[in-house]
Amino acid sequence: MELRIRNARTGDGRAIAECFYASCDNSCKDCFNKYICSASKYTVKMITNMDKRLSKKLKNYLALVAIDKNGKLVGFSSCLGSTDKSMMHRAECGWFVDINYANKGIATKLVERLIVDAKNSGFKKLEAEAAIENIASIRLAKKLGFEIEGTKKLALRIGSRYIDSYILGKVLN
Ligand SMILES: CC(C)(COP(=O)(O)OP(=O)(O)OC[C@H]1O[C@@H](n2cnc3c(N)ncnc32)[C@H](O)[C@@H]1OP(=O)(O)O)[C@@H](O)C(=O)NCCC(=O)NCCS
Repeated sequence: MELRIRNARTGDGRAIAECFYASCDNSCKDCFNKYICSASKYTVKMITNMDKRLSKKLKNYLALVAIDKNGKLVGFSSCLGSTDKSMMHRAECGWFVDINYANKGIATKLVERLIVDAKNSGFKKLEAEAAIENIASIRLAKKLGFEIEGTKKLALRIGSRYIDSYILGKVLN
């Protein structure tokens, strides 16, 4: 698939929110987003906050978007480092794609580039959290060198169920 990965910039907020929200059918049954409810995040506030964050050009925040050949934003990845001196070397990652563009290698490209950019920015470690039943995310993370460092019990509530999550980590050599 023809794809361009670039840094997210101010003004991308709406397209990022739309990409995230694309999977919501309001049923909450077997949700594609196994981490955060996309409906609760698709708000004017989210869009504004995202654009505000991007405009600040924070040194500890990297955000990437995937753009298809028609200019549509179809995926997002980011990592945020701590501001505490003792933890500044590590950053927490997130990633998602538009459900209509899933399983086409988009997240792989986004996270591959995120790893390179994070290393070039001086981070020593990337971390992520994924619901244990999030097969695609865990497969993606393992493929790109993340290891399972532990399990968080009852980490997430999806509908009426509580599920565990894996803590994933990748040391950037
Ligand atoms: C996780 C997610 C980002 C993967 O995006 P994607 O673009 O479909 O991923 P890719 O196409 O790059 O595939 C990555 C791996 O997952 C596998 N995969 C993708 N979709 C899958 C599915 N539905 N079931 C099983 N494996 C799947 C791919 O085969 C690939 O593994 P491989 O290279 O060993 O074959 C996407 O499913 C998503 O946005 N989910 C909702 C948000 C979310 O859960 N984010 C992560 C929070 S931790």
